[in-house]
Amino acid sequence: MQNFDYQTPTRLVFGKGVIEKLPEVMAQFGKRILLTYGGGSIKKIGLYQKVLELLKGYEIVELSGIQPNPKYDPSVLDGVRLCKEHNIDVILAVGGGSVLDCSKAIAAGAKYDGDPWDLISYKVKAQAALPIVDIITLAATGSEYDTYGVISRTETNDKIGYGDPLLYPHTSFLDPVFTFSVSRKQTAAGIADAMNHTMEQYFTADTTLLNDGFCESMLRSLMVNGRKCLENPEEYTARAEMMLACTYGCNGILSLGNSPSGWPCHGIEHALSAYYDITHGEGLAIITPRWMRHILSERTLPRFVKYGINVFGIDPALPEREIAEKAIEETYRFFESIGIPMHLREMGIDSSRLDEMAHHIAVNEGLENAYVPLSEQDIKEILTESL
Ligand code: NZQ
Ligand code: ZN
Repeated sequence: MQNFDYQTPTRLVFGKGVIEKLPEVMAQFGKRILLTYGGGSIKKIGLYQKVLELLKGYEIVELSGIQPNPKYDPSVLDGVRLCKEHNIDVILAVGGGSVLDCSKAIAAGAKYDGDPWDLISYKVKAQAALPIVDIITLAATGSEYDTYGVISRTETNDKIGYGDPLLYPHTSFLDPVFTFSVSRKQTAAGIADAMNHTMEQYFTADTTLLNDGFCESMLRSLMVNGRKCLENPEEYTARAEMMLACTYGCNGILSLGNSPSGWPCHGIEHALSAYYDITHGEGLAIITPRWMRHILSERTLPRFVKYGINVFGIDPALPEREIAEKAIEETYRFFESIGIPMHLREMGIDSSRLDEMAHHIAVNEGLENAYVPLSEQDIKEILTESL
């Protein structure tokens, strides 16, 4: 087991009706709030109106229109400008992972005098950040419990996972009822995203029985409850368990003491989203089984055997290679069964920019240090197999 130094300071307030506690939480900060949200889903579900009602007496400045794969320009830049102009005390992010991620970059940029890209690109380390409170409305990213904000810069095809311990949300409100309205497409993408977060931590060299069990349970829970959410979007217990599972995805708790894995599927997917603005979870679902096939070898076989037996219940008496291949096939079939298009071509991606993307990933994502190191050629092959 490897050494670690771990702290997640975020307060989680979970369950039906918990946003009634919003005034109590916001009272810890000043009176000036930047309210961030996306394209309007929070208005359709009545959450926007509820938040304004709960926060009467506060000075609220709004930043709306934050898009999926949130953009540096205009959203981060606009948010930073608003924080500085209005001397904002706290950011209240209401929406999916994109709204939270964008708010994290804004929180750091608001306390920095230079170009916020210096921070996001890790050229300069942030010294301070505004506090963030969030109401998450989509179960997927785990942004409500982690330190990352993934930001896209269109003109350079960059999509960077910017992380800093200063960016953990102060408090996250998780009411599964707010996820009832999430579309089939986004629900399925959320299942795939959270499953892949788990796999990225499970497929590595040095693990423990404890972490393996946690990850295997996460994967089974996400498949069972994810399906229920698709069948009956308003089934509270299924939405609730899916929401909690997603929350565990990215804050490191699944892999304390494991060796690093390099998160290869994310490294590859971030380029797909950067170049083609596709839905993150769908891109991951397409890449994952191709990556698995690519890295299956004598060295990785035991991991795939364990995965196949404990996650999919494959007969342990079968030959090991057969178990591993069945496990990869089951992974593919599961994603397909929840309605995810399983080929890049179905998302409008052809072979014309694969070389460019493979090069971009090889230069920027450090996948030569992944669990199974990936060269530019490996990345190109995985992308080609995904077409
Ligand atoms: O913009 P609005 O109108 O709010 O609609 C959103 C958006 O169109 C909609 N939505 C959200 N909540 C809803 C809802 N629709 C109906 N009812 C609700 N309750 O869903 C659409 C997608 O929203 P988005 O926030 O983009 O989805 P998600 O939460 O999956 O976030 C994806 C982003 O997070 C990044 C991804 O790369 C991507 O940019 N990630 C962030 C991570 C992190 N912070 O740790 C880790 C992940 O690996 C991931 O990279
Ligand atoms: Zn992800």
